[in-house]
Amino acid sequence: MEIIIQPTPAAATQIAARLMVRLIQEKPAAVLGLATGGTMELLYRELVAKKLDWSKLTTFNLDEYVGISPMHPQSYHSFMWEKLFSHANVSIKNVHIPDGLAKDVPAACAHYEQKISAAGGIDLQLLGIGTDGHIGFNEPTSSLASRTRIKTLTPQTRKDNARFFDSQEEVPYHVITMGIGTILESRHCVLLAFGKNKARAIAEAVEGPITAMNPASALQLHRKVTVFLDEDAAAELKMRDYYRWVFEQKPDWQKV
Ligand code: GLP
Repeated sequence: MEIIIQPTPAAATQIAARLMVRLIQEKPAAVLGLATGGTMELLYRELVAKKLDWSKLTTFNLDEYVGISPMHPQSYHSFMWEKLFSHANVSIKNVHIPDGLAKDVPAACAHYEQKISAAGGIDLQLLGIGTDGHIGFNEPTSSLASRTRIKTLTPQTRKDNARFFDSQEEVPYHVITMGIGTILESRHCVLLAFGKNKARAIAEAVEGPITAMNPASALQLHRKVTVFLDEDAAAELKMRDYYRWVFEQKPDWQKV
């Protein structure tokens, strides 16, 4: 795992954006795994400003709430169109987001997995992290081999995400999320986390034991993970000075 600690979310986001730009320029038909949440807003703004060619890219979003329409202002469909897709020349047929209104949820999930495979797998998967260590919406105790499926949110995640809704009661109880096994199959995982409220989850994920109690810790098994943090999110990492040192000492050919 490569841990990149920057003074501010903006500085960390800029490097993450450069990494994505490089991939898109090298592979114009890349398959991107996209994430939602406040952390991604800055990154999508950076990417939009770079006026990249999205026409050949294929995207798969990590998750969606169950039971709310794609038109609902808090659906992840709305988030993606508002923050990114409406400002880029995406080809609609290449955009994939789980269907929160699917009648047959298991069949829709299996179909989602098939579409990822048919696209050749995900080149780069963006990830945020929940305060409980969830990635996508894989809550603690999710199987580390899980595939796309329905999950029930924890009360804490419903509380954390209530800020986006008019009231806490409005936050759905169920979601469809790529599984941890699905995420681990992507060729590069890029996780961003900012703020003090992520510090414990990050320390456990990066330096703790691999455990379903912190789903992001499964990323320790992945061969290529880049974690972008601000100082606050890095605050509980025991080896943070070493990560900084590694980043400063990088040979030129390895720099982003
Ligand atoms: C939601 C999403 C996650 C995201 C998390 C953190 O739960 N399903 O993919 O990582 O929020 O969100 P934020 O970036 O707003 O802290």
